[in-house]
Amino acid sequence: MTSFKVQSDNVKYTDDAIISTYVYQDTRVERKEGQPLIVKPIEETYMFKTETKLPKLGLMLIGWGGNNGTTTTAGILANRHKYTWQTREGTQTANYFGSVTQSSTLKIGVDENGQDVFIPFHEILPMVNPDDIVVGGWDISSVNMGDAMRRAKVLEPDLQNQLYEEMSKMKPLPAPYYPSFIAANQKERADNVLKGTKQDNLEEIRKHIRDFKKDNDLDKVVVLWTANTERYADILKGVNDTADNLLNAVKNNHEEVSPSTIFALASILEKTPFINGSPQNTLVPGVIDLAIRENVYIGGDDFKSGQTKMKSVMVDFLVNAGIKPISITSYNHLGNNDGRNLSAPAQFRSKEISKSSVVDDMVASNAILYKENEHPDHVIVIKYTPAVGDSKRALDEYQSEIFMGGRNTISMHNVCEDSLLAAPIIIDLCILTELMTRITWKRPEDTDYKRFHSVLSVLSYLLKAPVVPEGTPVINALSKQRKCMENIFRACVGLPPQNDMMLESKAF
Ligand SMILES: NC(=O)c1ccc[n+]([C@@H]2O[C@H](COP(=O)([O-])OP(=O)(O)OC[C@H]3O[C@@H](n4cnc5c(N)ncnc54)[C@H](O)[C@@H]3O)[C@@H](O)[C@H]2O)c1
Repeated sequence: MTSFKVQSDNVKYTDDAIISTYVYQDTRVERKEGQPLIVKPIEETYMFKTETKLPKLGLMLIGWGGNNGTTTTAGILANRHKYTWQTREGTQTANYFGSVTQSSTLKIGVDENGQDVFIPFHEILPMVNPDDIVVGGWDISSVNMGDAMRRAKVLEPDLQNQLYEEMSKMKPLPAPYYPSFIAANQKERADNVLKGTKQDNLEEIRKHIRDFKKDNDLDKVVVLWTANTERYADILKGVNDTADNLLNAVKNNHEEVSPSTIFALASILEKTPFINGSPQNTLVPGVIDLAIRENVYIGGDDFKSGQTKMKSVMVDFLVNAGIKPISITSYNHLGNNDGRNLSAPAQFRSKEISKSSVVDDMVASNAILYKENEHPDHVIVIKYTPAVGDSKRALDEYQSEIFMGGRNTISMHNVCEDSLLAAPIIIDLCILTELMTRITWKRPEDTDYKRFHSVLSVLSYLLKAPVVPEGTPVINALSKQRKCMENIFRACVGLPPQNDMMLESKAF
């Protein structure tokens, strides 16, 4: 049930679905050398069907015993049990701040007095309540979730004490560990490792997913990688370039098949959506090919939680204001296990690549400021500083060219609290991915409804280096990414996109 009902011929509510007809308005542009652009408004009609019955949902995290895994699990349990705890500031209540689905609102319309009316984001369409998500997963470290939560040093001690007994009964499943993919300094954690060949590991993980579903009586599961950043896998012809080649490479125990790719393959073969929250190229072409073939959703890469989120707002603002960023210099230091792993060059390189392309679309949008192929200088440094723990510091300097050759410099110091920012994003990714499995669409002339493209680019708001269907543009600007989600969900209930013209308050 949602808290509103749309009264329109464009939407029909049945016992188990919301069916909408939506006229999509856009423009098509024709370019001819030396001629003005020809711009034509277009209209296309789509029908959306959203199943309204909510499933019993499971979330399986890879890297469950890490800082993000323990914080996500603890956060869900604390909300489920409505825990409160003491801090220096007083009594704190469990919440989902930082989750776009749970703690943001969207404007549903304007009332008769001209006042905007907002609803919680999660009420636009029926979404699973995060309190009801059953969490499980894998880790190469055998430490139980209670002790892993203590090891992470993220949550207040009073809350840890309340959660400890319940979480210490949770034990991560063993996982594949191929030492060349993560930093050598992680070796001492790896005491919960699957034996056998890569093919054996794949089969074992498939069984874990099936068993988790059965044992917890779940309708659906989402699998999400929040384990250590791996090095990039080489893309090799005949190895990981197509689904069949990749499946063969697993059979042949090929070196370039990473643990994260094994998890992605296992999930897809179990018809279970898979999301990659780290920067490495888990979603090699063979994985994408298999997801399309099996009609399963995949998404990635790398949670957009702190510095990059600011960057995708800041550069969007500057370029849209007609100000020209000429250098963006980003320093990070962090002291958690993620930072330790990233102190190795190959793993740092994955992060550097993921963080580097985040301003490209904004720069390319403004040919007045930037010549073709011109980019601001963009430098990224990450250093491991154990004493700051999970409290990651991101220091950014944006230098821009302004009026008449002047220079404007903005410096930022962002204390990120890494896992407290990442956990709500993990929850959103799970909830939104599940929602997308219930939305189908067709054109009026089609007989059957179909799913969206297997690469779920609608999740881009939550991801640092969004993977998109081949040949489609990558959008990094945060406001556009949010509008995309919001407007697709509005279309599902027969509402037009938010236009922000507010003509009713400007008319004479
Ligand atoms: N704000 C954020 O925290 C943020 C933002 C973007 C991306 N990320 C990425 O999320 C990931 C997790 O971050 P974290 O702070 O929780 O790190 P962490 O080091 O605390 O946790 C990672 C866990 O993964 C486990 N692991 C490693 N290889 C594994 C494998 N093959 N199978 C199963 N488990 C494995 C480790 O034992 C560890 O417990 C990192 O790659 C990080 O770069 C984090």
